[in-house]
Amino acid sequence: MTQTISINDSQRLQLQPLEIPSRLLLGPGPCNAHPAVLQAMNTPPVGHLDPAFLALMDEIQSLLRYAWQTENSLTIAVSGTGSAAMEATIANAVEPGDVVLIGVAGYFGNRLVDMAGRYGADVRTITKPWGQVFSLEELRTALEIHHPAILALVHAETSTGARQPLEGVGELCREFGTLLLLDTVTSLGGVPIFLDAWGVDLAYSCSQKGLGCSPGASPFTMSPRALEKLQKRSTKVANWYLDMNLLGKYWGSERVYHHTAPINLYYGLREALRLIAEEGLANCWQRHQKNVEYLWQGLEEIGLSLHVEREYRLPTLTTVRIPTGVDGKATARQLLTEHGIEIGGGLGELGGQVWRVGLMGFNSRSESVDRLIAALQQVLPKQ
Ligand SMILES: Cc1ncc(COP(=O)(O)O)c(C=O)c1O
Repeated sequence: MTQTISINDSQRLQLQPLEIPSRLLLGPGPCNAHPAVLQAMNTPPVGHLDPAFLALMDEIQSLLRYAWQTENSLTIAVSGTGSAAMEATIANAVEPGDVVLIGVAGYFGNRLVDMAGRYGADVRTITKPWGQVFSLEELRTALEIHHPAILALVHAETSTGARQPLEGVGELCREFGTLLLLDTVTSLGGVPIFLDAWGVDLAYSCSQKGLGCSPGASPFTMSPRALEKLQKRSTKVANWYLDMNLLGKYWGSERVYHHTAPINLYYGLREALRLIAEEGLANCWQRHQKNVEYLWQGLEEIGLSLHVEREYRLPTLTTVRIPTGVDGKATARQLLTEHGIEIGGGLGELGGQVWRVGLMGFNSRSESVDRLIAALQQVLPKQ
């Protein structure tokens, strides 16, 4: 008989119970999950086809429609992080050879470019310096040049802190017979979104930011127009796990087994969405706006400047310029080790130039701002 390899010394050390330091997560996400969400996730799991769980899936769909302001019947949570839901929009909407126009003004625009290319899209881009947004005229010119099947935009560019205005974009897309795909990963729950009124056809998000849950159950929705394109495909969706023809049968009335849903995460997502509905969506957006304005004031009062023009700043994520002579990485490390506060560094082109401060979901509170400003006042002079 094969003998069990005995436990080694380093494994023996790992027998100690899990110990994770307490942190205030004020980076680009995740944020701290709401205590009620953590408690919901602590509920013992039932089976993924249990009638009680199926009822919970229906509730998630309904609450998600409210959070996104849509009536799309195909509105679900993808079992995976925001990138999985992002890939789901591309995998289902793009057929090889489709012209896909992508607005790139930051890191996540580029991720869309990479994904669309992998699904055989004829990718075209329209670009802006990081921190700026596209005007309606610029989008019109690009649509006239490229006549794309899909226009993909990032509503809340987490790498820059800029909010892309959407008014008029849906009408423009209809004029050109183009589907509008929107990344709402850093906006859902914290930034006003009106998917149907804006004419958005495909959207995705995540659970760990404005919704105030843990990562892993990511909102996805598609309009009847996008569904029609899916039904008319001449090729199979090239991703089995994210194929909405299959997932729709698990989330819809047929209830066909597709995969074993991460039950406890779905408990958390349902509670997070319930909390937003209880607070009221408009109140939740207002809370994010009020607290971020308090943050901007606090940062400016201690002599820091912000990267994005005020009109286009996100309520969920602020990019703060690292002053000349200050070591950005060392500052962030000190905030973490001495004050238990996480903030993010710059991503891509803005690496080394900015810090990224998130006030999302449960963390969008004046106490979060007070703690951060007080900590920065201690850390910055040492730099
Ligand atoms: C705008 C945007 N899109 C997509 C993603 C990917 O989400 P995830 O990291 O949950 O996979 C992120 C993550 O921060 C994001 O900020």
